[in-house]
Amino acid sequence: MLSKLSTLILLSAAVAAVPARTVEQTIPWTWDVSQFTSTCTAATCRYDFNVSGAIGPDGQPSFNAYGCIGTSAHGEYKGCSTVGLDVLGNVLAQEFNSGRDIGAIISVQYTFLQDGLVYAYTGNNTVAHTNGGEPFGFTIVPTKASVVIPDKA
Ligand SMILES: *[C@@H]1O[C@H](CO)[C@@H](O)[C@H](O)[C@H]1NC(C)=O
Ligand SMILES: *[C@@H]1O[C@H](CO)[C@@H](O)[C@H](O)[C@H]1NC(C)=O
Repeated sequence: MLSKLSTLILLSAAVAAVPARTVEQTIPWTWDVSQFTSTCTAATCRYDFNVSGAIGPDGQPSFNAYGCIGTSAHGEYKGCSTVGLDVLGNVLAQEFNSGRDIGAIISVQYTFLQDGLVYAYTGNNTVAHTNGGEPFGFTIVPTKASVVIPDKA
């Protein structure tokens, strides 16, 4: 496993250097979320889950992430605690709360370096909060992909 920190430095340097090319379309790739919980106190909810993906349709590297934990209040993508990858990259999550009794949009972003390019795939799903009930699993299909050519200078 390669370091998340060096990836973050690499990704931010790359993003600063060259704007991303982004496509918004469904990618035939399914990620599995397991052990999902989301518990709300007043307007803020705390999510916790694991997520993994097999090798993608265009040979995108597989990934495994544990401890994707955060709150609906942080307002940005947050890295999962443990990320298992064979390439440089990161797995991040964000929860958009739609109401305690309604549910939330769970968004997962997977970034990685492959063949000298930095890719970012993002997908969402809408789920109910568990609010103390049993954890459950669901899938996420990425619908947004961007690629950045790192500055070689
Ligand atoms: C989720 O990840 C934790 C490690 O943080 C692991 O103990 C647990 O078995 C995982 N659950 C599933 C369903 O994969
Ligand atoms: C995921 O949902 C959030 C909140 O509605 C939205 O801002 C974002 O564009 C969605 N991303 C994708 C890839 O659908």
